[in-house]
Amino acid sequence: MKDYKRTLVTCALPYANGPVHIGHLAGAYIPGDIYVRFLRLRGEDVLFICGSDEHGVPITIKARKEGITPQDVVDRYHKIMKDAFTGLGINFDIYSRTTSKVHDKLASDFFRKLYDEGKFITKETEQFYDDEARTFLADRYIVGTCPKCGNPNAYGDQCEKCGSTLSPEELVNPRSALSGAAPRKVKTKHWYLPLDQYEPWLRDWILEQHKEWKANVYGQCKSWLDGGLQPRAVSRDLDWGVPVPVEGAEGKVLYVWFDAPIGYISNTKELLPESWEKWWKSEDTRLVHFIGKDNIVFHCIVFPSMLKAHGGYVLPDNVPSNEFLNLEGDKISTSRGWAVWVDEYERDFPGQEDVLRYMLTANAPETKDNDFTWKDFQSRNNSELVAVFGNFVNRAVVLTHKYFNGVVPRNAKPEAIDAETLAQILPCKEAMEKYIETFHFREALKEAMNMARIGNKYISDMEPWKVAKTDMDRTASILYTCLQICACLAVAFEPFTPFSAGKLRDMLHVSLNAGSDHRKGEGTPTENFYREGEGRALHTGEAPGYDIVLDWSSLGKGELLPAGHAIGEAELLFRKIEDAEVDAQIARLEAIKAEREKAEALKNIPPQKAEVSFDDFSAMDIRTATVLEAERVPKTDKLLKLTIDTGLDKRTIVSGIAEYYSPEDMLGKQICILANLAPRTIRGIESRGMILMAKQGDGSMRFITPAEVLANGSQVG
Ligand code: MF3
Ligand code: ZN
Repeated sequence: MKDYKRTLVTCALPYANGPVHIGHLAGAYIPGDIYVRFLRLRGEDVLFICGSDEHGVPITIKARKEGITPQDVVDRYHKIMKDAFTGLGINFDIYSRTTSKVHDKLASDFFRKLYDEGKFITKETEQFYDDEARTFLADRYIVGTCPKCGNPNAYGDQCEKCGSTLSPEELVNPRSALSGAAPRKVKTKHWYLPLDQYEPWLRDWILEQHKEWKANVYGQCKSWLDGGLQPRAVSRDLDWGVPVPVEGAEGKVLYVWFDAPIGYISNTKELLPESWEKWWKSEDTRLVHFIGKDNIVFHCIVFPSMLKAHGGYVLPDNVPSNEFLNLEGDKISTSRGWAVWVDEYERDFPGQEDVLRYMLTANAPETKDNDFTWKDFQSRNNSELVAVFGNFVNRAVVLTHKYFNGVVPRNAKPEAIDAETLAQILPCKEAMEKYIETFHFREALKEAMNMARIGNKYISDMEPWKVAKTDMDRTASILYTCLQICACLAVAFEPFTPFSAGKLRDMLHVSLNAGSDHRKGEGTPTENFYREGEGRALHTGEAPGYDIVLDWSSLGKGELLPAGHAIGEAELLFRKIEDAEVDAQIARLEAIKAEREKAEALKNIPPQKAEVSFDDFSAMDIRTATVLEAERVPKTDKLLKLTIDTGLDKRTIVSGIAEYYSPEDMLGKQICILANLAPRTIRGIESRGMILMAKQGDGSMRFITPAEVLANGSQVG
């Protein structure tokens, strides 16, 4: 790792077309936040940048569907996402948006510089155009029949039914999603970044100079590079985005993946208008991008090539990316509603932010896809946070109040075991450092939990509540030792569960030097302290809190809380999560699944039957009729015996609809019948005619009724 003075950490700018879900959190945001908190605790100068990605086709589609503007869509989700991050203690120095003025200008200038220097190539291609809507159609805007599975509503980029990746040319009977018209191919010109020209440089820079990147990231880069890079279009025919700043480019905008990563730079500039260049343009800045695995190519290949083409900017030193998190065994999907939304979690589990943070780290998809289950969530909370961490702290603090009036007792009668126990903290700390520096947050969290286990085992083995009956000096030493470990936990858990770590510091009456904070501009690292009890960083200049100030280097030092230091009342750090709470979440997901299966089944309609002649059709005597009497046919589940008034006569029809209608449902209803069907005897009853029923894709049936009540016997045809 090179020598550096400051670290610039970014998390992928999430699309502002839906709320944040646990998959996003586990993929990029929680790891990024842990990393930033850790570096700050260690006293490093860190800037943490994020914001909403507010351009791109999906946002325009959503707007059109809802009959609102794209701006309305991004305004809504920008707020939801921003609040969700803050709620979980993910404290970016700035969370801005790519519709900001600063961004528009910077992205535009960036493009213009590359354009002026001849770094792009242009190509004319044929693109689908909708004559009625008078616009080019993005692939997503073209629908048609999937060539692979026959789904009549496949998109031009993908069939959601069979999952195949498509191009619009492959669709059978393509039509515009806007107007329904058949699209026509029209020539259009676009700018391309010739990635092929950067390939030799990328090969060296990634494959030779960054062998330390995580295996999943390095592997994906290698396979892209081995496959050979192609020029990539950086403009689109669309009316939502940063306009292409070139004459004759009316109706064209920068491709969303061109402007979005520039958002990291523009958000920095918006926060630090005077000093942003220090963060982006000096060699002693270390840039780290936290992303999900679907973003790897853009952050490791495309964006670095853009930065290289532009010149003057630092390149990422590392791009830690996680794999995907699944939910209860299924892929998380915004469009299918299969997710745990962060804003809903915060509503359903208020005050339990740390439990989600803990769970998503302990179970993070660091090397392979992983599964989130609510049962797992409950058991990790109850058997780890509550039973180990919370239980240890609670016993130590409660007993200190019980025997020593809430004052750290003198280490009156030390024994070897005390020092041996405290000596186990340092190796945990060192292991944590090693793991966090290499982005292995799960392992790092295990080490923090180990510290809690060490404390919990020590207090259980020492049994100070028993010792107190005979030996107050020894009791003092035991609790003294426990309280030192508690103080360590209040530091070690800060990156992972900051709310609880803050609460614990409050209990122990200690502060934390939480390091640099740039939310009000350039911070002075050592002046920033945490607001105890909230686990949230204070802005520069706010009150520091208690006299004892801990930081990362406190871990393993031995005495952090001297004898005579008064601590606060015991408060539970964690509470048990009950079966009913997780059962409600599981039931919610099951309902979503059932709904989806039903919707899928309903779409399952049979193909058209063979042609019939007009005469064939006219031969059928279809009429309106009214149900006069209805009863079940004894000893059957499916049959109803109906007496109906056909206008011509009263007759009996036996119909297999009892699964869908009760006799009471049918009484007095007007229906349609095929009157001249040859009579049949069913269960000894002569049935004359047939009731017309519509059968849905899932097999369920509904009778057909005229839009208004008509005279019985009216002919249908
Ligand atoms: N919006 C993208 C996504 O959610 C990520 C954009 S990252 C950026 O997958 F670098 F472009 F900003
Ligand atoms: Zn398909």
